[in-house]
Amino acid sequence: MYDIYEEIIDLTRRRGFIWPTSECYGSVAGFIDYGPLGAMLKRRVEDLWRSFYVYQEGYYEIECPTIAQESVFIGSGHVKEFADKMVQCPHCKEFLRADHIAEAHKTPNAQTMSSEILARTLMSLPCPSCEKIFGPVEVFGFNLMFKTAIGPGTQRTGYLRPETAQGMFTDFQRLLRFYRDKLPFGAVQIGKAYRNEISPRQGMIRLREFNQAEAEIFVHPMQKNHPEFSRYRDYIVPLYSMNEQNNGLSPKKHTMDAAVKTNIIANEYVAYYIALTHELLTKLGIKEERMRFRQHLRDEMAHYASDCWDAEIYSDRFGWVETVGIADRTDYDLNAHAKESGKEFKVFVPFDVPKTKKQLKISADMGKLGPLFKVKAKLIADALKDAIPGETSTRVIVEGEEYEVPNSLFSMKEEIIELRGEEVVPHVIEPSYGIDRMIYAVLECSYYEDEVEGETRKVLRLPARIAPVQVAVLPLMNKEGLDSLASELNSRLRSNAIFSVYDDSGAIGRRYRRHDEIGTPFAVTLDFDTIKDKTVTIRERDSMKQVRVNIDELETLIPGLIHDKIQFESLL
Ligand code: ATP
Ligand code: GLY
Repeated sequence: MYDIYEEIIDLTRRRGFIWPTSECYGSVAGFIDYGPLGAMLKRRVEDLWRSFYVYQEGYYEIECPTIAQESVFIGSGHVKEFADKMVQCPHCKEFLRADHIAEAHKTPNAQTMSSEILARTLMSLPCPSCEKIFGPVEVFGFNLMFKTAIGPGTQRTGYLRPETAQGMFTDFQRLLRFYRDKLPFGAVQIGKAYRNEISPRQGMIRLREFNQAEAEIFVHPMQKNHPEFSRYRDYIVPLYSMNEQNNGLSPKKHTMDAAVKTNIIANEYVAYYIALTHELLTKLGIKEERMRFRQHLRDEMAHYASDCWDAEIYSDRFGWVETVGIADRTDYDLNAHAKESGKEFKVFVPFDVPKTKKQLKISADMGKLGPLFKVKAKLIADALKDAIPGETSTRVIVEGEEYEVPNSLFSMKEEIIELRGEEVVPHVIEPSYGIDRMIYAVLECSYYEDEVEGETRKVLRLPARIAPVQVAVLPLMNKEGLDSLASELNSRLRSNAIFSVYDDSGAIGRRYRRHDEIGTPFAVTLDFDTIKDKTVTIRERDSMKQVRVNIDELETLIPGLIHDKIQFESLL
């Protein structure tokens, strides 16, 4: 039976996009290799991401190690909390994700159920592996972090990071100085993350080593208006809010302005990154009808988040798949690391106009305090400066001991002090992208078959800017100087940072098919007219239309076509 998923997997293996890892030893679930074209595609997807977050938003990229010491993850809460619910099938002994089994049998909110209720739910359900009814089982938490030991002697515990985010939190003070102590600022990171997923059965969707692209944007807790909100104010996005989910309704389209004003989205920052994500996914070729932004339900929301939305993409194979998470993480992470490390994670924010405050100034009379409190007198005098005076006496604590100081031993004066600013713990807005899930969505959305001259033509309709090979250079024949003209053109294109591939093997139709299948958007063919008048044809992959241009124009035409500055239709 025809199965589009199998077709895509077959194509990606055959043509060098995605391979099972260490295949010669039998591959391991949850790990993949990006082959030559896959690695190129991945880099281009990451570069498109950079064009938004680094070039448009102006957030610098940093790179932190993928292993971190245990205290980082004690601080972040991952050591205690980062667990999924697991069950072992009593019949086939397979370890399985308990909530996923319940969800597959239409149990609502399985992700947020307690272990006991999940165990009861599973009793009457079949094991997805051996298909026998589970019967009585135990459901328990399984921490998803990979644990390791750092160094040979002390064997300090370390963990492979389960998200790239933590490095940006632990570097907070240095980032703050880099950005000259001013809010808002952001840092981004693209890199590997690791989760020891319980049963990774969904190909690229659920990996044990995967790639994230995350931005951590540090904002004033009381100022969540994005300075560039006007860019996306009128941008329309399909939102699947709590209200729609709770009432069995379909997602509704809203402008970002309306969504913030009607409190569907908590603030402009979250709305801004929802719209930006929609634009980015559209540029990757994800179709509008396959995208929705689903708000986390109250009991699904991470304990640190005040609002959270997942960009979900519809897969014919897997249904709606979370691909990007956009959360307002509040001050949770910075407070948590401040507590664990004992360091400050605050920003001094100056007021536009200094404020004044009335304050009581207490001055101790050392002549009276000395004889009464002896060696402690100086410390008590210091403590009195910050004390709240009582009716007749004032209580202070010095070196863990409490002292009652009669008010006759000090004088009080009201004074006006000037406040130049205040210290705040920033809130964090986090858009978190799964690169591998984005790539899978791109492959599924771009795979296409049509019929040409009685044969099936398989095409990856990749947007030109992310296609691994950007141009195929095809001499009609490899003789009469056409081959040397073509390789000279190939070198010229490559020296202009255009990734072109010279291909002279087989009939021209076969060569077009080969390149259609890997998504090469343009093919330049050199024929005998090229020798006479220096013209070549450019063939466009999707329409298969051709246009004749001068060979010397290619160095400007091709980059224009790849980056959407020139439309192919306009050349016809
Ligand atoms: P899921 O519920 O599907 O396990 P999650 O809610 O745990 O996902 P997050 O913790 O929000 O995912 O991670 C941010 C992003 O990282 C996700 O939107 C996803 O794209 C990606 N991601 C998370 N886990 C994996 C994985 N095991 N394999 C591939 N990508 C992943
Ligand atoms: N940084 C978000 C996540 O990976 O959970």
